[in-house]
Amino acid sequence: MTTYKSKMVEPIHLPAREERAANLEDAGYNLFNLDADDVFVDLLTDSGTGTMSAEQWAAMIRGDEAYAGSSSFRKLEDAVAEVMGFDHVVPAHQGRGAENVLYGTILEEGDVVLNNTHFDTTRAHVANQGAEAVDCPVPEASEFDSEGEFKGNFSVDEARRVVDEVGAENVPAVILTITNNSAAGQPVSVENTRAVREFCDEIDATFVLDACRFAENAYFVRNREQEFADATVAEVAREQLSYADVAVMSGKKDGLVNIGGFVACRDETLYEHAKQRGILYEGFSTYGGMSGRDIEAMAVGLREAVEEDYIADRVEQVRFLGERMAEQGIPVFQPVGGHAVYLDAGEFLPHIPAEEFPGQALAVEIYREGGVRCVELGSFAFPDSDRPELIRMAVPRRMYHKEHIEHVVETVAAVWDRREEIGGYEVVDEPPMKEIRHFSAELAPLGRV
Ligand code: F0G
Repeated sequence: MTTYKSKMVEPIHLPAREERAANLEDAGYNLFNLDADDVFVDLLTDSGTGTMSAEQWAAMIRGDEAYAGSSSFRKLEDAVAEVMGFDHVVPAHQGRGAENVLYGTILEEGDVVLNNTHFDTTRAHVANQGAEAVDCPVPEASEFDSEGEFKGNFSVDEARRVVDEVGAENVPAVILTITNNSAAGQPVSVENTRAVREFCDEIDATFVLDACRFAENAYFVRNREQEFADATVAEVAREQLSYADVAVMSGKKDGLVNIGGFVACRDETLYEHAKQRGILYEGFSTYGGMSGRDIEAMAVGLREAVEEDYIADRVEQVRFLGERMAEQGIPVFQPVGGHAVYLDAGEFLPHIPAEEFPGQALAVEIYREGGVRCVELGSFAFPDSDRPELIRMAVPRRMYHKEHIEHVVETVAAVWDRREEIGGYEVVDEPPMKEIRHFSAELAPLGRV
């Protein structure tokens, strides 16, 4: 049940069908090229797109813009200590800034880093240090239909196999991403987190939590892991984070802000080293790329993220979207994750081969049908990989109401009804770096639309 009301509104507009078709053509059938004003319900990402609370806006007025020693930063340190249990905070402008600070501090060329699944920016920052990123998801992470409760878990067995091959001395860090964004936003259990802690002790590695969706993960743990049935989400979050040495955080997710991030740790020496790199890349150690008002808003947001009413409403809204679609036979990744619903475009449009981008075709049709924007995560975004043809519908926090979600369901259902008429695409203009082509490449329909 939604336990908030609106105090400020922002009009949105659904362009007419012909305008949507023209917008698609103008955008080169790449939804990143659309004007946001032409999007009715925007499910491109849950990152930095949510609504702040009245308390956060009030806190922004109090932002202390001092270059050094800002009182806003002290409030952030207090919030991180209270909600997440870490004593030291190195601020950064967003998650990838924090990744640069941390991985530039703890990695060296030739290192191997393990993760349940590296998110794209994490993989890129590991690679940027000359290290190799190796994923160790549990096998069920890639099962579209199975009902596993913690399909985001880290496979310690797989990790052991990798360590036997490369040598423990070459694995200085193990990362656990909660929830596992690249595995359909699936949660990680506390039991698995404890196993990762033991494994890190065994191989003498630093245990890093990519905590950007830590509150959503804690909600799943409370509801699914027997031991925590009577705990609060705040207690679960503290418990889960307590096993890690370091947390790397994008405040744009469970910090409930539009920009911001940080590295949080316990070890004084690591803190001092990371702080120096933070000063170099992000700014002085009490602002790190954020204004004082951004920092104030994040300090409040971290506390709000673990409030029971908020988090239940948030995760259940995402589930509602997924289940309403699944009921109609639409191929939805099961169970629904914490921040997004993933559809299998390979199954939705089985007549379109991978080289004609079924995910992109589906995302384009969803916009054409109802002005809804989502993102392709298949052969267009990840060329030359054997990933499934998924599209992601990520739900911004506290932004959309049930009517918007119902509009999305109706839109996708209408596309489902005419799926056999939908054709594939070809890339007609590609930027030099293929790995990031999905942000700017242009496509053209191959006939049937
Ligand atoms: N780690 C994870 C698991 C993420 O999902 C993201 C961002 C980052 C790190 C980087 O954080 O964007 O603040 O620099 N994910 C966004 C998304 C972009 O759409 O999933 P950032």
